[in-house]
Amino acid sequence: MDQAPALKLFPQTAQIASDGHLHIDGLDVIDLAREFGTPLYVYDAETISARCRAYISTEGYRCALSSHYPAPAEVTYAAKAFLCVRIAQLIASEGLGLDVVSGGELYIARQAGFPTARIHLHGNNKSASEMAQALDTGVGRIVVDSAQELAELAHIAATRDVVVPIWLRVSPDIDAHTHTYRKTGLLDSKFGLPLATGDAARAVQAALSSPYLTLRGLHAHIGSQILELEPFCRTVEALLDLAEEMGRHGFSLHEFSPGGGLGVPYVDADPGIEIETYVRSVSHAVVHGCQTRGLPLPRLVLEPGRSIIGPAGVALYTVGVRKEIPGVRTYVSVDGGMADNPRPALYGAQYTALVANKADQRPIETVAIAGKFCESGDILIHRVCLPYLEPGDILAIPVSGAYHLAMSSNYNHAHRPAAVLVRDGQARIILHRETDEDLARRNVALS
Ligand code: LLP
Repeated sequence: MDQAPALKLFPQTAQIASDGHLHIDGLDVIDLAREFGTPLYVYDAETISARCRAYISTEGYRCALSSHYPAPAEVTYAAKAFLCVRIAQLIASEGLGLDVVSGGELYIARQAGFPTARIHLHGNNKSASEMAQALDTGVGRIVVDSAQELAELAHIAATRDVVVPIWLRVSPDIDAHTHTYRKTGLLDSKFGLPLATGDAARAVQAALSSPYLTLRGLHAHIGSQILELEPFCRTVEALLDLAEEMGRHGFSLHEFSPGGGLGVPYVDADPGIEIETYVRSVSHAVVHGCQTRGLPLPRLVLEPGRSIIGPAGVALYTVGVRKEIPGVRTYVSVDGGMADNPRPALYGAQYTALVANKADQRPIETVAIAGKFCESGDILIHRVCLPYLEPGDILAIPVSGAYHLAMSSNYNHAHRPAAVLVRDGQARIILHRETDEDLARRNVALS
């Protein structure tokens, strides 16, 4: 059973004020809930910046990559974890690149003025128009996922008479020991060119022989919310083996990315791996692996999403109906749920919560926090011990920054929630709450 969480799961500026209210960056979240309504997603800029800088920094901070990797390195933020114009601008200002997986993400990145040379395009089924957009806007790297895509991209490049810098995404057949739906590096996966079947090696040769493609590097992403270091290191080894073998066919590994995937704790009992520990392990694996194979060190590119943005976000909900079933369970419903956070329903993801207006009170009852959507599976937290919850209380769920709003839906014609960014003691809206007009916009009435 989860106890009310220590603030360590919350953004680093979180504090409990003397009136028992949760504050983020000096702002009372109860005031934020009143001003902007709930459900509300609050992002703490200081936490985002600190987590970017833990990976890398352009400002001379001692960060993990510059301490542990003795060759050029970069970090691209995986936009799919959460993207809006303001966050893209913040990420750009921290000196990171951006990994996008669709024309839509690329469009928002461009709206933000994100330097396109620092954008990488991923995806297992990129459309011709997405690849063309990437070429026309000067996206830095296209990460090719299949032999079919390789041929298609070469054709698109030929019609424009340009040479495109690419990576190949390799499927190394490595188990990331995470939820099945988040494993992406097994042989049985829709992603990437399998090593085991020889497809990856054949794609390297095909890329090398194309006059319109420059094969700059190799990439693998084995999954997400990974809480062990060993699968990352095995991935490095597998890809360096391929690089060594392909060296005999004229391939040089200039750039290398073992993807993203570092997990974060969601509840107190979860193990956590510090960003620095992860970066050190991966860096050492690359350095050691290259040394033993006689390969020069490639530019190392990490692609974190969740570990940058997840712990920076807090979801605020207003408590509504209580339903007590003696001897069975007490359900406390809030004004959001699976439409803004489908993770519990999709992956059985666990969360904890704090009553933001009673953060100094002792937990006295174990309840289930239910959403308001028409599914019995719409339970945000199955068991959490909290102070007595009454209608109007504000519930704060930490580690809500990644893959909540990014995967939110309009189920039951819900309005997708607003998001605010707090910085220097001020809260600014970065995503508007949807309205009935937004919902109506796509409808066409029969005349
Ligand atoms: N690179 C690639 C190619 C990816 O596909 C992903 C995530 C990342 C990097 C970033 O992974 P991260 O550092 O955020 O773990 N909806 C799931 C997670 C899906 C991850 C998709 N790909 C969840 O809510 O747990």
